[in-house]
Amino acid sequence: MKNQNNFTREDIAESLHTDFGLTKKDCIIFVNDIIDIIIDGLKTKGYVKIHNFGSFKVTRKKSRIGRNPKTMEDVMISERNVIKFKASKMILDHINKNFSQKITEWYLINGRDDLPWRKKISPYRVWISEIMLQQTQVVTVIPYFERFMKRFPDVHVLADATLDDVLHHWTGLGYYARARNLYKSAKIITSKYQGSLPLLFDEIITLPGIGRSTAGAILSLSHNKRFPILDGNVKRVLARHFKIEGNLQASSTTKQLWQISESLLPSDRIDIYTQAIMDLGATVCTKSNPLCSRCPINQDCLAFKEDLVDEIPLKAVSYTHLTLPT
Ligand code: ADE
Repeated sequence: MKNQNNFTREDIAESLHTDFGLTKKDCIIFVNDIIDIIIDGLKTKGYVKIHNFGSFKVTRKKSRIGRNPKTMEDVMISERNVIKFKASKMILDHINKNFSQKITEWYLINGRDDLPWRKKISPYRVWISEIMLQQTQVVTVIPYFERFMKRFPDVHVLADATLDDVLHHWTGLGYYARARNLYKSAKIITSKYQGSLPLLFDEIITLPGIGRSTAGAILSLSHNKRFPILDGNVKRVLARHFKIEGNLQASSTTKQLWQISESLLPSDRIDIYTQAIMDLGATVCTKSNPLCSRCPINQDCLAFKEDLVDEIPLKAVSYTHLTLPT
């Protein structure tokens, strides 16, 4: 295997075959089985617990490996534990690296690197763009972002302006609380943080208008810090990929999606990965008419494999169209 970080299922099966002399057929079954267990674990439990020594644990009722173990820990201590230990570490790497690596590679060729906030990247520019993009489409945001940057090129200019002026530059974008919060935050940043956006998650999240996903986006996109995001696009990608069929607004589902989002973070270039997964959701894994055949991760996408892409995410029921019986 040339590259330790880039496994395919066949690579792993091949390595098990040469290292342990199991038949190729057994190795392929084994690899597919374990990958399914992990995906299932991510899906149903929302996490896979990684032990220090590189094994993992997800609960499972029955397994073809070992003698009906209850958990993967039981699998680990069964007779062929050496093989399983090695396979588990490789497969975990495979799942996580494959996901982020494939998306990142796709982005480097297909991503929208001409978006204005992706040029001259700074925490300030990323912050403003993320707030504008919270409820608004990219095409609408672009001219607003350009005008805003011209008038308020840094946080000091923004804090020194009048609220009227800021709102004037927001006219037409809607959701004006966003502009008011930006202005309030600019005042806090100049008075409390010497004009630089704080780089600690616990500080940035206290600023008005900045929630967990926006904080993660700012820190990852502008500082390559290892924080997950979970905006609408990312939720959709993860929900389809891991076949999360519940209501995505439910707090238990949100919690599960956050755990998945966190577990998939690559170890480096979080900035590119974050942009990549946003773009994948916005341009390929779209709400309607997704372009699954062009998706770099369709091979492992449960919704795609099971023909559930149109069913996930669950559509909210519109009560306005219900006719009540008379
Ligand atoms: N939606 C939210 N953040 C975005 C970004 N940085 N680029 C494109 N679309 C986004």
